[in-house]
Amino acid sequence: MKFFVDTADIDDIKEMAATGLLDGVTTNPSLIAKSGRDFMEVTREICGLTDGPVSAEVVALDHPTMMKEAEVLRKIADNVCIKVPLTIDGLKTCKALTSDGTMVNVTLCFSANQALLAAKAGATFISPFVGRHDDNGFDGMELIEDIRLIYDNYAFETQILVASIRHATHVLQSAKIGADVATMPPAVIKSLFRHVLTDKGIEGFLADWAKTGQSIL
Ligand code: E4P
Repeated sequence: MKFFVDTADIDDIKEMAATGLLDGVTTNPSLIAKSGRDFMEVTREICGLTDGPVSAEVVALDHPTMMKEAEVLRKIADNVCIKVPLTIDGLKTCKALTSDGTMVNVTLCFSANQALLAAKAGATFISPFVGRHDDNGFDGMELIEDIRLIYDNYAFETQILVASIRHATHVLQSAKIGADVATMPPAVIKSLFRHVLTDKGIEGFLADWAKTGQSIL
């Protein structure tokens, strides 16, 4: 499973990239606003920190203007992935861009039928928002299972990019279902490394090692 980080914070992205485990980055207008940075400038900088896809979202709601925005965004770098909302105009834009070889991430997906439409529109990634789905009384993971089943039934190549991840259990369940990508806030990625018994084990080994009076270097 690929790991993307869901942030526009440069320091966080650098820290994640340094682990060697980062496969891409997702941003959205709210994350850009949170960064306080210029959209084009920060997106260019992020694209230089990873070879993987960097999702940059259009803000227009109509197809012709989405296409114009996408034209500006895709010139930023070769690894820009244009993010469009799951609307009729968003999917028209997705179809046009992917037919032209541009990567597209279809965002704000909340149903398996929407995911089916995105795959038919040739989306590179579909982003089902599991946390927001859970928040509203639905089962985010059931949505991922349904999309996996449908995509496998028809051998769609669209990658399932699990978004709006809130905790490590979402990541574990996504991996068990066979989702292609998980995009996570930095805190969730960091939480995957930690286990209380790992910390306790290190503490015990170091205490015993100290008793030997030896050093490796
Ligand atoms: C994904 O691309 C979105 O940016 C993100 O996962 C949304 O998450 P949120 O529901 O925590 O805002």
